[in-house]
Amino acid sequence: MRQRCVTRGYVGSSAWIAICVWGAWVGVGAGTTWAQENSKPRTEPDCVFVPTPHDIVERMLEMADVRKDDVIYDLGCGDGRIVIQAAKKRGCRGVGFEIVPELAQKARADAKRNGVDHLVEIREADLFQADMSEATVLPMYLLPKMLKELKPKLAGLKAGTRIVSHDYRIPDVKADKVETLTSRETGAEHILMLYTLPFQEQESD
Ligand SMILES: C[S@@+](CC[C@H](N)C(=O)[O-])C[C@H]1O[C@@H](n2cnc3c(N)ncnc32)[C@H](O)[C@@H]1O
Repeated sequence: MRQRCVTRGYVGSSAWIAICVWGAWVGVGAGTTWAQENSKPRTEPDCVFVPTPHDIVERMLEMADVRKDDVIYDLGCGDGRIVIQAAKKRGCRGVGFEIVPELAQKARADAKRNGVDHLVEIREADLFQADMSEATVLPMYLLPKMLKELKPKLAGLKAGTRIVSHDYRIPDVKADKVETLTSRETGAEHILMLYTLPFQEQESD
């Protein structure tokens, strides 16, 4: 390393300044492009709709100890079943984000049909753009790559916020509780992981 620095020392100082200015510009430019690309709202779903069976939803709500004063955010809410069930059974407010227009419409219609449209708000929007600062509980059923991308944002949520992730874990975060259970509705096995903010880091496998 030292040898390389000495060799570079032969370049004139004004040339060095020019190189540094160019490097900084390219670096900032590249950073801006990356940031802009990543802040652009998506228009296509990052995964398909696979509903969580209602009995598994119930266990997710139990694990997070959802109460009336909680605010539930379901990022990728599908037909809105989690926020609707939470509002119906526990009387809490919920916000669902869904990028597929037909699913968002169904979620709104189901909330109305179940008499909880005053508690449930469905936003047809990209979940990666969501302002979730008011959330106290986040049920999640998203792919590992999505959880990885969301992790920095989730890590910034207020202390005491609970996240229950269905089937996929948040990478390198220690769960408070892990449960494996079989749905009476579908006969399929599900894994649920409860996390409470602030995250406790876990070493990579
Ligand atoms: C596996 S389903 C889970 C649905 C619901 N949370 C449940 O557990 O029953 C994931 C949902 O996320 C939606 N989705 C995928 N990418 C999205 C994005 N970038 N923004 C908003 N919704 C998205 C899909 O359309 C799908 O409905």
